[in-house]
Amino acid sequence: MFYKTKNKIDKNKYKFTEDWFSHESESKVVIQFEKFLSQYKNKPCRFLEIGSFEGMSAIWMLENILTHKDSRLWCFDKGETWTKNSFETLITNIYKTNKQNQVEITKGSAEENLVNFPRSYFDFIYIDGDHEAETVLEDAILSFRILKLGGIIALDDYLLGIRWPKSPGAIACKNPPKKAIDYFLEIYAEKIKILYKDYQVWIKKIKE
Ligand SMILES: C[S@@+](CC[C@H](N)C(=O)[O-])C[C@H]1O[C@@H](n2cnc3c(N)ncnc32)[C@H](O)[C@@H]1O
Repeated sequence: MFYKTKNKIDKNKYKFTEDWFSHESESKVVIQFEKFLSQYKNKPCRFLEIGSFEGMSAIWMLENILTHKDSRLWCFDKGETWTKNSFETLITNIYKTNKQNQVEITKGSAEENLVNFPRSYFDFIYIDGDHEAETVLEDAILSFRILKLGGIIALDDYLLGIRWPKSPGAIACKNPPKKAIDYFLEIYAEKIKILYKDYQVWIKKIKE
């Protein structure tokens, strides 16, 4: 299907070495971002991203959704060895948005930091960090706690190893996320509404 959008990332303005997000990527994750996050445009809201890499998804949210002056984005990235100097690129790219005052970037594992936020704090959380099932489950449970009632969580790579089994990410992953996400969906079934389930899973919190 041909998908038309006005909300493109300017790849000449920013530095990117990988694309797991835009319309030019295989997964075209941005389509779900447009569909489910447009409701937050021009509203004061709090977003959190677990795994920012060079900032493509973060920049898209800043340019297209977090347009209210009081909206905020928290980015956690561990800066893993395979990502080379992506953390420095993330910072440079975020400065190029001119919205750096709305962003808090933390280098470190999300799991150690998520426990520091109060309950019901975020409107949206994007889980796209470590893709091993054990960590995905931990991220999902900790994120649910700090998500507002009515808030949204997106879990990336639900079909890692299934849809594109020969991708480098799929080959490197010992215990892919699907098992963890299925388990999360099952144990939180009464508290969530599944908005979308394909390569990603999007859920809404309907009960504390
Ligand atoms: C797939 S990339 C994120 C891509 C980004 N969301 C985008 O769409 O442009 C995954 C990132 O998660 C980071 N990461 C891995 N494990 C993490 C963890 N436990 N906590 C925070 N970040 C982590 C890696 O350093 C890497 O930069």
